[in-house]
Amino acid sequence: MRYPEELIEEIRLRNDIVDVVGSYVRIQKKGSSYFGLCPFHSEKSPSFSVSPTKQMYYCFGCGAGGNVISFVMNYENYSFKEAVEHLAERAGIKLPEIEYTSEQKEKENKRVQLLNANREAAKYFYYLLRNKPGEAGLKYLKGRALTDETIDKFGLGFANITSDDLVKYLRSKGFKDDIIREAGLASYDEKHGMQDKFWNRVMYPIQDQNHRVIGFGGRVMSDAKPKYLNSPETMIFDKSRNLYGLNFARTSRKNHFILCEGYMDVIAMHQAGFTEAVASLGTAFTSGQASLLHRYTDAVYLAYDSDGAGVSAALRAIGILRDAGMTAKVINMRPHKDPDEFIKNLGVEAFQERIDQAENSFFFEVRILEGNFNLKDPDEKTRFIKEIAAKLVTFPDEITRENYLSAISDKYSINPESLKKQVAVLASKSLGDYVLSYRPKSGIQKKDAGEPAKKIQSFLLTWLCEEPKIYGLIKPYITIDDFTDDVYRKVAERLFSDLEKGQVNPGAIVDLFDEDEEKATVAKIFNTELVEITENNEKEKALHDLVLNVKRNSFDALNEKPDKDASDAMKIFNGKKALEQLKNIQFHIE
Ligand code: GTP
Ligand code: MN
Repeated sequence: MRYPEELIEEIRLRNDIVDVVGSYVRIQKKGSSYFGLCPFHSEKSPSFSVSPTKQMYYCFGCGAGGNVISFVMNYENYSFKEAVEHLAERAGIKLPEIEYTSEQKEKENKRVQLLNANREAAKYFYYLLRNKPGEAGLKYLKGRALTDETIDKFGLGFANITSDDLVKYLRSKGFKDDIIREAGLASYDEKHGMQDKFWNRVMYPIQDQNHRVIGFGGRVMSDAKPKYLNSPETMIFDKSRNLYGLNFARTSRKNHFILCEGYMDVIAMHQAGFTEAVASLGTAFTSGQASLLHRYTDAVYLAYDSDGAGVSAALRAIGILRDAGMTAKVINMRPHKDPDEFIKNLGVEAFQERIDQAENSFFFEVRILEGNFNLKDPDEKTRFIKEIAAKLVTFPDEITRENYLSAISDKYSINPESLKKQVAVLASKSLGDYVLSYRPKSGIQKKDAGEPAKKIQSFLLTWLCEEPKIYGLIKPYITIDDFTDDVYRKVAERLFSDLEKGQVNPGAIVDLFDEDEEKATVAKIFNTELVEITENNEKEKALHDLVLNVKRNSFDALNEKPDKDASDAMKIFNGKKALEQLKNIQFHIE
């Protein structure tokens, strides 16, 4: 299923990362690298760097990083294959047909057929809405104040009252019953045969980020229940990894998203000019959706319903967004129920004001919490304060925690010192839990290299990459086993073999990994900031210390390993020897 590595290499070589990134992001040369505003999170001063020598990008702000292929993947939301194809075309390289296994072929073929069936269905519904059978549907949508332009933009349609006309239409287009059923567009039973899933409903096609129709939501035009019918999950429709409206919102050029509850809210918002609005797909907001949004921005405004269910959903979404490393603010919709009604009644400017005044999600959480307590009662107030402390203790950053602590103390007339004490009590308790849980439970325990060890290992890897000639000096002492983390070890293995051949190519190392997070780790490893040392003897001493540290760390880690086998014993023996030798030598950098 993959293109040969030499071809990928050629595509990478013929697409200079500076040119490619420069066609999306404004970057300027500063020293040996280029800098600009990071396209993967919102920022005011540039911390996004592109290195022509390493052929890598790395953001010192958000940690996004990788090579030219992963940049295109992330920016365009392409798969690896799509990104490679895009870059090949850009460089005028012709790609061979790739060899698929028959199973892969079948799967790909099915995917294409399901997409085609959905597209045809969307076209059919679109046609019906704009013709005689869809009159009632069009009247309904117009009654909800949608313009023709909006109805077209979202490709809205209508499902006929007849129970098998879509099936007949799709068959006439050559689709097999199996595909129609697997696309979730019809069901089959012995009594009725093939029956359309959607009848007599206005239809909202659900599109992925690349505007492909992957499913539908169908709404009744009355108060009948169920109000919505949604396509079931299929091979192409994963409700936890798509968002309604994201195909438009991702290019809205706002530095935030607005997350709504309903399809209709998204449509009304876009019509009002808030093209950054998205909604989940009839299911609760998920962490998969949060990471999808995080590719574009750090900030999400919640425009959930103002009723009880909306508030609980907002609280859950806030937690999910926070876990994903994003910040949330809550838009107050009162006295209206949802954004659609709000805008209809109070207009665009009033909504913009509500965005500007959106409440910090922590204040929102505390305010909702407050509703559970009678603060006039001293015992209840104590419990309230303890709950606030439990929330504050989860802030990893001390300054942020202090700021919230003093703001909350002011707001609820709490003595900041006693709140601080309570936070400290909880913090030491949770540290205790952490230490207990960290203690090895059984003999075999995968040992994490730990942050400081990783940091010094990346110093060495960055240095090797920027000054390949030091490889000869460190080679007798450092082996790839000295890199105690899996990703680091794999990076070192490839870098060492490249150094042996005398051709370092950090950009290529990124492609050894499939996960975004691992790719970013590679970029991070090679972007450790080295202090420039001009004096040769100081540099030699620094390198010596670094090598000694890397060696000592891995040696200690190995020594602490509970069940050592023969090969470990050998490594310990060699490690000890290398450490002894290192103590007595000096490096000489020419
Ligand atoms: P309107 O009532 O037309 O304004 O629609 P809405 O999009 O504002 O819907 P609402 O806020 O009532 O519900 C939010 C979302 O929940 C909808 O967009 C649907 O995705 C989903 N939903 C609502 N009702 C149902 C239902 O009866 N069944 C299913 N499966 N999903 C529903
Ligand atoms: Mn609504």
